[in-house]
Amino acid sequence: MTNSLSSEVLARKPQRPLSLYSPKISICLLVTCVTLFVLFQIQSLPTALSPPASAPSSSTWNSLQKWKSMIISTALTLKNCTDQLDSLDSKLRESVTFLPLKDLRYAHAAQEGHTWFMSSMYDTNKKGEVQYQQFPSNSSKGRLLCIKGHDSHDGAWNSYALAWPEALPRNATLMKGLTFISNSHYNHDNLWHGLSAMVPFVAWRIKNECATPSRWILYHWGELRYKMGSWLKNLMEATYSGTINIQSFEGFGDDEPVCFEKAVVMRHDEGGMSGENIMQVYDLIRCKARLYCNVGWEDNIKGRIGMTLFMRTGARSFRNESEVVRIFTEECRKVEGCQIMVAHSDNLTFCEQVSVYSSLKQLKKILI
Ligand SMILES: *[C@@H]1O[C@H](CO)[C@@H](O)[C@H](O)[C@H]1NC(C)=O
Ligand SMILES: *[C@@H]1O[C@H](CO)[C@@H](O)[C@H](O)[C@H]1NC(C)=O
Ligand SMILES: *[C@@H]1O[C@H](CO)[C@@H](O)[C@H](O)[C@H]1NC(C)=O
Ligand SMILES: *[C@@H]1O[C@H](CO)[C@@H](O)[C@H](O)[C@H]1NC(C)=O
Ligand SMILES: *[C@@H]1O[C@H](CO)[C@@H](O)[C@H](O)[C@H]1NC(C)=O
Repeated sequence: MTNSLSSEVLARKPQRPLSLYSPKISICLLVTCVTLFVLFQIQSLPTALSPPASAPSSSTWNSLQKWKSMIISTALTLKNCTDQLDSLDSKLRESVTFLPLKDLRYAHAAQEGHTWFMSSMYDTNKKGEVQYQQFPSNSSKGRLLCIKGHDSHDGAWNSYALAWPEALPRNATLMKGLTFISNSHYNHDNLWHGLSAMVPFVAWRIKNECATPSRWILYHWGELRYKMGSWLKNLMEATYSGTINIQSFEGFGDDEPVCFEKAVVMRHDEGGMSGENIMQVYDLIRCKARLYCNVGWEDNIKGRIGMTLFMRTGARSFRNESEVVRIFTEECRKVEGCQIMVAHSDNLTFCEQVSVYSSLKQLKKILI
């Protein structure tokens, strides 16, 4: 499954935004054509008319000359205008300034306030709500977010900038649709840290008519990451009802800027969210996971307490698992209606885990 997914995940390189220029070009062409046509008409007039020597026609001749010079000067002014626009446009493009994604000046406060990731930007900050940045927005003055570089070892080598859609930096590629950009201080592989990095995106989605991203870009300290843990990926695929496309920037040079039609940036995990808002997100995720795995809500017998011990393997596993199970089983026996289950998350599929959480009956099927 991973293989078939990863081939879909490879981002196709989108078209360069050539079309941005076309309205101006067509106006220029139109103006030039009309001017040339009028000039040609006037040029041909004097020869067609009687010679300027005859007295009655001399006033006509003069006014014609006046018109001619007026039109020429208007044409010149127009030409000047478009030249100046072009030069301004070019200056705007050149003035887009890229700053390092990871700002080492704030290494001592890497997670506080504006953090060291995109340190010149501030998040929206409504009490109890998710903290995020959105581009374009009023606070970006309508500018899009652009990024450059895809270093996966040092975030200071990757950079970001804001640019107006009409004046994207030279050679920039515009990526259409919605892009989610996540910077995690921990990582996107770990269940817990990965999940807390995803919570704000789900919160944002609830508030934004369930908008679905066209792609995700993952950073750890500004360093690019190309995958999230498979559990987390499953969970997000369930939540967003579709495959998660993680941008790999294949085929892009380090100097080639990429700009996003619409981008949402998160760098604070659940920071700032009220307990109520976090619960709302978890409720949605739970609901979506059950739908995805086709797991019902049955088996909620009154007075029963289900206790599930999820065991880990590796460095953080219990040193004596059987002893831990024995102690919990003993405690569970003391409480009426208590039932204890033990599962190893490593050897359950994603949907088996969802079943374990949802129904005690199904758990027995899995464990026996
Ligand atoms: C066009 O602009 C130049 C300076 O850029 C100026 O010297 C010239 O007078 C302008 N011409 C007209 C017709 O406005
Ligand atoms: C952005 O600014 C415009 C005009 O000032 C205003 O009408 C609009 O509501 C603002 N949008 C947001 C999201 O604040
Ligand atoms: C843009 O791309 C062209 C051709 O690929 C290259 O010659 C030029 O140097 C690039 N310009 C910038 C500013 O990177
Ligand atoms: C686990 O603890 C029990 C009881 O204390 C003991 O009998 C058993 O040998 C221990 N197992 C390991 C692998 O240490
Ligand atoms: C699950 O994994 C644990 C530890 O890796 C192993 O001891 C156990 O036998 C496995 N259980 C099943 C049902 O495969």
